[in-house]
Amino acid sequence: MSTINHRIENAFAYIRSQSKSAPKIGLILGSGLGEFISKLDTTARIQYQEIPGFPISTVEGHEGAFVFGDYEGIPMVVQSGRFHYYEGYTQQEVAMPVRIMKKLGVEALVITNAAGGINLAFSEGALMLITDHINYSGDNPLRGANLDEFGPRFPDVSDIYTKDLRLQLKDSAEQSGIALDEGIYIMNSGPSFETAAEIRFFRAIGADAVGMSTVPEALTAAHCGMKVVGISCITNMATGILEKKLDHKEVIATTGRVKDEFSKLICLAIKMIHAHNCHPKS
Ligand code: HPA
Repeated sequence: MSTINHRIENAFAYIRSQSKSAPKIGLILGSGLGEFISKLDTTARIQYQEIPGFPISTVEGHEGAFVFGDYEGIPMVVQSGRFHYYEGYTQQEVAMPVRIMKKLGVEALVITNAAGGINLAFSEGALMLITDHINYSGDNPLRGANLDEFGPRFPDVSDIYTKDLRLQLKDSAEQSGIALDEGIYIMNSGPSFETAAEIRFFRAIGADAVGMSTVPEALTAAHCGMKVVGISCITNMATGILEKKLDHKEVIATTGRVKDEFSKLICLAIKMIHAHNCHPKS
């Protein structure tokens, strides 16, 4: 068994011993986007550092946990705090929690992130539904021996951000009066923000927003057949667009400002996925 598979097995066995919950919906919460957790009737909280085989945090003050709970009666598992490629983890490690969710029974995954706006029509604080991505990280979480039990060597990713779910979420956001942009997310490895020239290049190749996460998790989810919904919070306009320097504090300040709206959108996404799974369209 490959080392990563072994680590996934060990971590999964431990998590199973702490919670017998079998959620069909998973959620990954990005930086500063943890507000949704307060809406969960929590049944179990498992800190990452107690999970055997889990990546060891390198970041000071890093706190992360798998949270199990029900949102309006819908069982869910939430990755509260994620691992980033720029922290030095491999992309396989970054996406380990996705494979654990798969083993728990998760069929649809909502992935959230903070991102810089490249599309000049966006503004700070906008919410963007991810329609597709460009993997500019220079790596791929599926590189190396294929884990056949999860999926094929060469997975199709033509509908990686599941179209059915996107269309329905757009509808429900519109009905609820939540403004929702849409666009293509490009992953830069980070941790430095982009140069102005890189942003012009990213715009030229069709990207609407840039961030340092999401792509490893989305590719790993697609590999194992999960449906994916991706939502970016445009916390700042990308380098070179506005006359100011980028600062992580601004990213956190914007997520703080839009947290209620963001959390409402997550609620809509969860309810929509649940309804979709319960009443599949024929
Ligand atoms: N670039 C990359 N990642 C980000 C940004 C950005 O401008 N804003 C939030 N995450």
